[in-house]
This record gives sequence, C-alpha cells and structure tokens, in this order.
Amino acid sequence: MNQPKRYTITAALPYTNGAIHIGHLAGVYVPADIYTRYLRLIGKDVIFICGSDEHGVPITIKAKKEGVTPQDIVDKYHGIIKTSFEDFGISFDNYSRTTAKVHHETAQEFFKTLYDKGEFIEEITEQLYDEEADQFLADRFVTGTCPKCGNEEAYGDQCEKCGSSLNATDLINPKSAISGNVPTLKETKHWFLPLDKHEEFLREWILKGHKKDWKSNVYGQVKSWIDDGLRPRAVTRDLDWGIPVPLKGADGKVLYVWFDAPIGYISSTKEWAERVGKDWEPYWRDKDTKLVHFIGKDNIVFHCIIFPAMLKAEGSYVLPDNVPANEFLNLEGNKLSTSKNWAVWLPEYLEDFPNQQDVLRYALTANAPETKDNDFTWKDFQARNNNELVAIFGNFINRVVVLTDKYYDGVAPEPSEFSAVDQETLAAVKAYPDVIASSIERYRFREASQELINLARLGNKYLADEEPWKLVKTDEARTKTIMFVALQIASALATLSEPFLPFTADKLKHILNIHSGEAKNSWTDISSKTVILPTGHKIGKAELLFSKIEDEAIQAQLDKLMASKLANEAANKKVEPQKETISFEDFSKLDLRVGTIIEAKKMPKTNKLLVLKVDTGIDVRTIVSGIAESFTAEEIIGKRVTVLVNLAPRTLRGVESQGMILMTESEDGKLVFVNPDTATKSKVPNGLQIS
Ligand code: 2FM
Ligand code: ZN
Repeated sequence: MNQPKRYTITAALPYTNGAIHIGHLAGVYVPADIYTRYLRLIGKDVIFICGSDEHGVPITIKAKKEGVTPQDIVDKYHGIIKTSFEDFGISFDNYSRTTAKVHHETAQEFFKTLYDKGEFIEEITEQLYDEEADQFLADRFVTGTCPKCGNEEAYGDQCEKCGSSLNATDLINPKSAISGNVPTLKETKHWFLPLDKHEEFLREWILKGHKKDWKSNVYGQVKSWIDDGLRPRAVTRDLDWGIPVPLKGADGKVLYVWFDAPIGYISSTKEWAERVGKDWEPYWRDKDTKLVHFIGKDNIVFHCIIFPAMLKAEGSYVLPDNVPANEFLNLEGNKLSTSKNWAVWLPEYLEDFPNQQDVLRYALTANAPETKDNDFTWKDFQARNNNELVAIFGNFINRVVVLTDKYYDGVAPEPSEFSAVDQETLAAVKAYPDVIASSIERYRFREASQELINLARLGNKYLADEEPWKLVKTDEARTKTIMFVALQIASALATLSEPFLPFTADKLKHILNIHSGEAKNSWTDISSKTVILPTGHKIGKAELLFSKIEDEAIQAQLDKLMASKLANEAANKKVEPQKETISFEDFSKLDLRVGTIIEAKKMPKTNKLLVLKVDTGIDVRTIVSGIAESFTAEEIIGKRVTVLVNLAPRTLRGVESQGMILMTESEDGKLVFVNPDTATKSKVPNGLQIS
C-alpha cells in the first residue's frame, strides 16, 4: 500500500477469565502500543482498538468452577484487565467489551448479512455430546489428541502446540472437560463457513499477493494451512453463553466465539466513533485504510484465514495489511501458565515495583519474542534496568540537567563554534528518527528499542569525551557549546522515547520543560529543526528517571516463583494411599535393630545397588541396598542405620541379602536413612522402603 490515509490498529481482545501477565504484554500490547504511539507522533490519522473477549468456553468453565455466573466473571476481569492496560500506558482509543449491546448487534448483523448472501452451509451433523452433563462439547469443553501433531492436550477448536485449527470431531480419543467421560455423537444443526470456497482467494491474497513481507513465522504457518487444504468450519455452537444466532429456529444456539470476537474490533470502533463524534466506516471500509492486527501466535489462523474469509465474504470491509504476530514468551525457562500460576501478573508487578511500568515495557521490548519463543528472566530484567535504563539513559539525562542547572541556572546556553565532533554528533541525532522509524515500521521493536538506547549512549560518550566539568574552569565558551549539544540530545530522547517509555518521556518533558511552546517537538522535528532545544530555554530541576533494582528485589521475585512451583507440585503430588491395617501382633514380628555400615561396594553392572556389610549388634551381615543413585559407597561407611534383621533372605544378582535398611524421604523428596540417632524431618514420608 502506498501512503495510507489512515490506520486501524487492533490488539487481540483478551479473554476475560483472568488477569493480564507479561506474556500478553510482550506478545501483543506493548508492540501494538509502540506502533500506535509512533504513528500518532508522526501525525497520522490512527485509531487503536481493543476490548474484552467475553464469550467462549473458558469463561463458562471458570464460572462453573467458582460457582458464579459467566457475567460475574467477565464483569470482574474486564475491570481488572482494563485497569492494567491503563496502568501500563497501553493507549487504546477505545477499550470495549463483547457483551456490549453495540457488539451483539454488530455481530448479529454481520452473521445475517453472510446468511442472506448464502455464504453459509446449513447442515445437520453429528457432534460430540456429554450424556452426563447433557451438553454438546465444542472448543475447550473437549480435549483429545491432535490429529496433526499428536499433542494429547489439544482443544476442540485448536491445538495450541502446532497452532492447527480443528473441528472437535477431528480429535483422537476425545474426552469431556466437564465430566471426563468419553463423548457420544448426537445430531445437531449448525451453520458452517465454507473456507474451502475461499481457498483460492486466500492463496492469491496471501501467497501470491504482497504478503511475502509478513513475518516469516506468520507467512509460514498460513502457507502450510492453505497448502493442506481448508475445510468448512462451524460458526455456531450449542451453548447458553454467547451471542444468540439471529435466525428463526436457532434457539439455544450462539455464535462461535471466534466468529464474534474479531467483529469486536469493528464494534469497538463504532463505540469510539460514537463517543468522539466521528464516522467509523472509513476506518474499516475505505481502501486507503491500513488495517494491522497485533496478536500472539496462537491467534494466527483466526486473523489470517478465518476473519479475512469472513470480511471478504461480507464484501464491504478492508482486509488486514499485516498481522505481525509474535511468538511466545517463557518465564525463567518454563512456559507461562495461568493454571500453574507460573506468570508475572501485571497487578502484582505494580505492587512490587510501583511506578516502574516503563522498566517492564522496556525489558519486554528489548527481549521480545519477535521471531522465536523467548525467555523472560528476572536477572535480565534487572540488567536491562541497571545497565541500560539507569546507567545509560538515566545517567546521561541526569548529568545534562544537573550541569545545566549548576552552570547556567537551568537556562540553555548559547553555543559558539561547533567542532567536527559536535557537528557529527548533531547530524547523528538528526538521523535517529528515521533509523528508529524504519525499525518500527518493519515491526522490529527490539531493534528500535536498542537504537533508542544507542542515542542515549551517544550522549553519554559525547559528555565523557568532551568533559565539560573539566573545561568549565578554563573555557567557558566551549563548555556552553558542549552543554548546548548535550541538551539537543536530551530533548531528542524526550520525544523519541515516547513510544517505548511513555511515562519516562512525560517526566523528561516536564524536567526539560518542553511540554508545550517553541521547545515542543514532533518526531519529525528532531530531524528537520535546526535547533531542537533553543538557547535561552529554561529547564527544570533534575529528578531521577530510573532507579537501581537491587538483588534482594530480584530474589524476592524468584522466591515467589519458587513458592508457586512448590505449591503447584504439592497440589499435584500423588500421595500413596495407606496400606491395609496390620495387627499389633504383625508389627511385633518386625525385629528392628540399630546397625552400622562397615563396608560398602557398588554391585558390578548395576546403577542402583550397593552391597553393604552391616554390623547389626548380633552379627555382621550382607545387605543389598537399592540406594546407589542417592549415595556413594564411600559416604555411607560408618553410618548408623535402622535395620530390619528378620526379613527372609533374598538373592539379588547372585548375592544373598540378609535384611533391610529402613529409608524414607526428606521434605525435598530425597531418599534419606531412618536415622536411629536424629529424627528425620520428613513431613510426608513415602513409607518405609526396602533398600
Ligand atoms: O486468544 C485470545 O485471548 C482471544 N481472546 C483473542 C481474540 S482476538 C480477536 F479476534 F478478538
Ligand atoms: Zn497439533
């Protein structure tokens, strides 16, 4: 597309069944926000649209689990999510919700248009059914093995492992998520979007069209689905939570959540237009509108195949120009998981790091999963803050502001002649808007964020090389020139950092007093104005932009994660059921003695067995013990142990074992001796083991 007249930027509507975590922020919302803020700064007509995705099975499941209604769930999380977005400076023009009236009407109208145009196939088919729950099973109500990749935890509409979109009946060994039962098949009527009918169009539009500039992860996935062949897909469901199908005889049927959710972008735009008194239609219907969907990789099929097919079938809408989907972010080496509480939740982050939204935005951008899955670590977060934001960006600004205040009472000095270094530096500063813009426009936000830091780095190096603090005593004119140049860099940083670090940019503009008036700059002003911060301009006092994050704060986060891991393991730990009761007579038959291991050797050709000589007080005997994976022979010689001495002898690998050493498990699951001298701290002993 040549110069678009306007931009419609959408960010995936989050499901309203939980709070937002760093994976959501890194994958979708921060890049979308950077892109939009940049477009606004270069003066484009742009709207940034989102809202809560409030239908669908995950919400019903959560409501069932908590014993409340789906409406209760969405009301609660819509509020929490909206607040998080505001807190982190995600600057939506409109944040709507799919339970809104305007959305129900828009989605129903969209469905009706397709229906009237004959774009659906109406068919009675056999669908999975849970007899016990008396309910059809679709989407997340059913799990099973993915026929494409063998993932045993695929859902009825999608396999999250390989990204394939599925029909519930495709699943191998399906199981109801409600009762755990194997579903039966039952006939029901539904409306299907014949994706096969749109295959040729999709092939032309994506594969032969200009979509080769889409990110390779997106293009590759889409190509493989189209090459595999597309099949009709049901767009209605037998559920009681959702948007009613607007047809006679469709009682009890609702729109498939993935049919209604993307239409949410349109209804949210309508809501925005109504609020600000504008016309929504050009943002969706004018061919000079550039539509960009920011999503995570699990949403690719819906935004690159299903929604475009819907838009094309409807006929009056533009299609997305790009779908810059990100890969997944992991956390400390493991997949982010809501159910395992392996996540950094935004509300909790803000409690632990108040007013440090930009640090997280920056760390997530600098390490964004743009081309492959990436790992968030708290150590990297700390390093990004301490080594880049504090040591480079913050340090440079602080020096400039403190020195300007000290030398010139906060008034930008008049430069005299510029040296070659000054001229090179000023020319380099002017190049930055284009350098950063080029990365942003190619959706390379990591690269863009590093260029921003390079600009601050340039400032730091300039000051370190020119040393105004030394020259101030000997060369007043030169010092003024240096400080003038440094102030130009500081001012450029205030504008160019806004997409990435909006709170910091705001603070910096206040410090430099460049919120309005002559000294206020747009993105392009940085390149085009001869002077970015004019002589005579009075700046404010220094304030720290960033502060060092100490090891203790990082350790506290790691401890929190470890606590979640342990709690999760404990919740999933299978405790062996108690064995049958024995009588006191049975127990008293056990002859337990305290013994000492006087010799220990590894049993040849085994990994598990040690051959021990144990002094039982009665005799010295041989006991074969299966503890070699937990102890070396050397470390247990001399150890006092509890021995069951009257166990019938057994021959193991040709060696007769004449008794049993008693073992149990420690708190952290390690095998330990039942020590006759010290009580073990075992909380949940696995029972005494033959060893
Ligand atoms: O994956 C998700 O969280 C979905 N709720 C995204 C929906 S995007 C759109 F189409 F609304
Ligand atoms: Zn799969």
